[in-house]
Amino acid sequence: SFHCFALLWLCLMRVCVRACVCVYIHRFLVCPQVSGELDDCHCDVESIDRFNNELLFPKLQALLQTDYFRFYKVNLNKPCPFWTSGSHCGLRDCTVKPCSPNEVPEGIRTEARNKVTELDKCEKSEALGAVDVSLSDETREALKNWTKHDDEAQRFCLLDDEWCPDSQYVDLLLNPERFTGYKGPEAWKIWTSIYEENCFKPFTVKRPLSPLYSSGRSEGQCVEKRAFYRLISGLHASISIHLSARYLLSDEWFEKRWGPNVSEFRSRFDSELTQGEGPKRLRNLYFLFLIELRALVKALPVVKEGSFKLFTGQPQEDCRNKERLLDLLHTARSFPLHFNETSLFAGDETEAAKLKEDVRLAFMNISRIMDCVECFKCRLWGKLQTQGLGTALKILFSELPSSPPSSRLTLNRQELVALVNAIGRISTSIKELQNFRELLAEDT
Ligand SMILES: *[C@@H]1O[C@H](CO)[C@@H](O)[C@H](O)[C@H]1NC(C)=O
Ligand SMILES: *[C@@H]1O[C@H](CO)[C@@H](O)[C@H](O)[C@H]1NC(C)=O
Ligand SMILES: *[C@@H]1O[C@H](CO)[C@@H](O)[C@H](O)[C@H]1NC(C)=O
Ligand SMILES: *[C@@H]1O[C@H](CO)[C@@H](O)[C@H](O)[C@H]1NC(C)=O
Repeated sequence: SFHCFALLWLCLMRVCVRACVCVYIHRFLVCPQVSGELDDCHCDVESIDRFNNELLFPKLQALLQTDYFRFYKVNLNKPCPFWTSGSHCGLRDCTVKPCSPNEVPEGIRTEARNKVTELDKCEKSEALGAVDVSLSDETREALKNWTKHDDEAQRFCLLDDEWCPDSQYVDLLLNPERFTGYKGPEAWKIWTSIYEENCFKPFTVKRPLSPLYSSGRSEGQCVEKRAFYRLISGLHASISIHLSARYLLSDEWFEKRWGPNVSEFRSRFDSELTQGEGPKRLRNLYFLFLIELRALVKALPVVKEGSFKLFTGQPQEDCRNKERLLDLLHTARSFPLHFNETSLFAGDETEAAKLKEDVRLAFMNISRIMDCVECFKCRLWGKLQTQGLGTALKILFSELPSSPPSSRLTLNRQELVALVNAIGRISTSIKELQNFRELLAEDT
């Protein structure tokens, strides 16, 4: 089912009668490049496209514009723990502009203790006239839970950024993920160490990835480790789509123009040009989408609680945002073809616990590797998306029977912001894929 590119190629080579036949084949038989059922899941690409492009994408975009979700706290100055990285990339488009303190809403900046009274206001805004601003025990408890950080063992990413004095808030809307010119050996090194050393990479996957690779992984892999590899590959695919979709097309002195670059896209996803890997990468993108979507749904009970607030210090706005988020999660839940994660983490309990630990450690390592990305812009989005995926895994794994029974799922602001932005990126990729399909169709 991956013949789209091949056929297009044939068309281009004028093997088929141009125009009508080609368009006919393209429109009705072979596109999208990826189609049909995805393995590990009873769902098909077409229904994911429809669901995402029509329902989820607009809602996510609206939510990501809000103050709560646009400010992400990150430490971009941590040294790379694995090798001495070269000078920080001097490319102009790599720069990240951190927010000055007065740009970030008061409520996001202040410590949890200060949040207390404000939180209560939102809670009480319905009970008009309430003068008692003292906290209910329940709210106090919930706040404590919210800021508690004893779930170290459940975590998939390093959260130290959040507490580190070097960390700064970044406005994600002002620092969009797009083509930066960061590629070549340094960028390969990052992906190579992620795949080869941390990723349980299946032996069968072809490695046009990089000339640096060393082989030697075992072949027999359980479905979970394969799944882990696919998630990382999906992340890579998503990032590649963004870079192709927001490519620096022209750089005149008076303006820069960013837009889709079809040949860049094809060099990463065309079946022919990638020895068949391209379509698999796209499937992995859909797989990642389903996993993160599933995690969103699983977060619903946590978000639904009355004590869970999207706190920025603007009570009306905060309450409205919470409604929007709930609406988004309900939409996510309405998707009929959810990935069944029980199949992913099934099996013997001790084995599952061991597996969880393996995946967790590998994932932690990947979040450390992000500190080795030399281009700050790429580092920012890399960190955000790994943390988002880490949060998704934390949510899904939290339901394993082997998890300690006392550990109730909690999410802090940083995790929630990362998760929603991460799925926002994947959702955007799926939308952009649609655009590329149309551009490719026009090309013929
Ligand atoms: C806070 O967490 C404890 C256990 O860690 C739980 O028993 C309690 O119900 C939680 N409170 C709220 C309001 O979520
Ligand atoms: C962590 O990643 C580094 C760099 O890729 C690698 O050398 C190391 O073996 C990894 N450690 C674990 C525990 O995966
Ligand atoms: C598109 O990307 C290719 C590399 O894949 C590059 O050679 C080409 O110049 C780009 N096109 C534009 C219009 O920037
Ligand atoms: C998921 O799979 C498990 C077993 O593989 C099954 O018991 C469960 O009913 C499935 N859940 C859904 C929602 O299909």
